[in-house]
Amino acid sequence: MRNIIGTPVEGEDFFDRPQIVANLLSELRDNQANILLIAPRRVGKTSLIKRVCEEWRKEQQSKAIYLNIEGGSDELAFADNLIDKLMRSNLYPEIMTLANSIIKNAQKLIGLKSIKYEGLEVDLGEASKDDLRTLGKVLESVFRKIDEGNDHVLIALDEVPELLLTLMRSDEIAGPKRVVAFLHWLRAMRQTYRHKIRWVFLGSIGLDNFASNHNIHYLINDFQIFSLDAFTPEEADEFLQKLGESYKGEITIDSADRTEIIRRVGWPLAYHLHLIFKELLYSKTLSVNEAFDSLLKPQYQLYFKPWSERIVAQFSKPDAEACNTILSHACQDPDGCDRRQFLAVLTTKPTADVKIIEEQILRLLNDLERDGYLIQKDSRYAFRSFLLREYWKRNHIL
Ligand SMILES: Nc1ncnc2c1ncn2[C@@H]1O[C@H](COP(=O)(O)OP(=O)(O)OP(=O)(O)O)[C@@H](O)[C@H]1O
Ligand SMILES: [Mg+2]
Repeated sequence: MRNIIGTPVEGEDFFDRPQIVANLLSELRDNQANILLIAPRRVGKTSLIKRVCEEWRKEQQSKAIYLNIEGGSDELAFADNLIDKLMRSNLYPEIMTLANSIIKNAQKLIGLKSIKYEGLEVDLGEASKDDLRTLGKVLESVFRKIDEGNDHVLIALDEVPELLLTLMRSDEIAGPKRVVAFLHWLRAMRQTYRHKIRWVFLGSIGLDNFASNHNIHYLINDFQIFSLDAFTPEEADEFLQKLGESYKGEITIDSADRTEIIRRVGWPLAYHLHLIFKELLYSKTLSVNEAFDSLLKPQYQLYFKPWSERIVAQFSKPDAEACNTILSHACQDPDGCDRRQFLAVLTTKPTADVKIIEEQILRLLNDLERDGYLIQKDSRYAFRSFLLREYWKRNHIL
């Protein structure tokens, strides 16, 4: 197992969580569920789903595709990516080739701008056949074919909310309509073609958070929720032991070191364990505490920056500001703050409407807890990761 930093891991580098993989596969195969994978940031969602896809492919007549749609700017790019992945898995080459050529032509003909309002309804100019006229219909013809065939196909869509945010922000009026239409269409596809197609949706911004912030839960309420958390202390210990064995001769991490690492990170994310391990591996003389401190140096900000960037990307400006205020207060005490303290700091302006701010605090605390920033203990909300708490303290408050 290599000490891979940042990117999702596959194969030998994946620290197996067999029960979780088995439970997920059983939900998908035996209970025919479509899954919404809910987990805090950086917990290992993408790595887990890639493993689930690997396992899925081991069964007879089973294909799995993994699609990261983060880079996609619109529905046409999504369709292009999807068909490309389906083609590579050698599914029904005839219809995939046809869909692919229609989409490629459409990209040349309509470019990116003119799809702005029509979304999946965009006319692709395939007048010859009515069921290939629009982008949505071309994709639907593919799903229909798969559903009538013999192969069981798992489609994992990663970073769905990223695409939804791009669509949402494309136009003040048409953007939200486009998001609803896209989610509506996806829901119809899941429900109509459900014999041979299973779906998993995941993302570093939770789709459930996105849906509740935009009041569109009804468009994803057919999913079964599967939640994933960081390692248990036992898993974390075994994980560090395995890493230690892989770098035998270069580093010795004994049981006391492992216990100390797990105590210091507070919340055993594989990502944070990898980071501490890297520090120990490269600077062999460092103690665990020194490695912890070293990671918080300015040159390593990149490791933690996505946690603050995601807040800006995910929330409206006033909500992002309120989140930052909440986090900047919570980071100052390992035991965090209670709601009244957040209310006090968010209602300092004389014009503040207390009722509205109370509602905002409850909503944002919920989001911050689900995304793994905070954890509620009794009436207080504290940083879940001690590393992130220290980072926040050093970089977000004077
Ligand atoms: N089971 C695992 N075995 C080994 N490393 C893991 C495992 N799970 C996660 N990691 C490590 O944690 C980091 C984050 O993993 P991954 O990208 O899968 O998480 P994620 O939840 O999809 O993150 P994001 O919320 O940013 O999308 C990676 O660098 C990966 O190396
Ligand atoms: Mg991911």
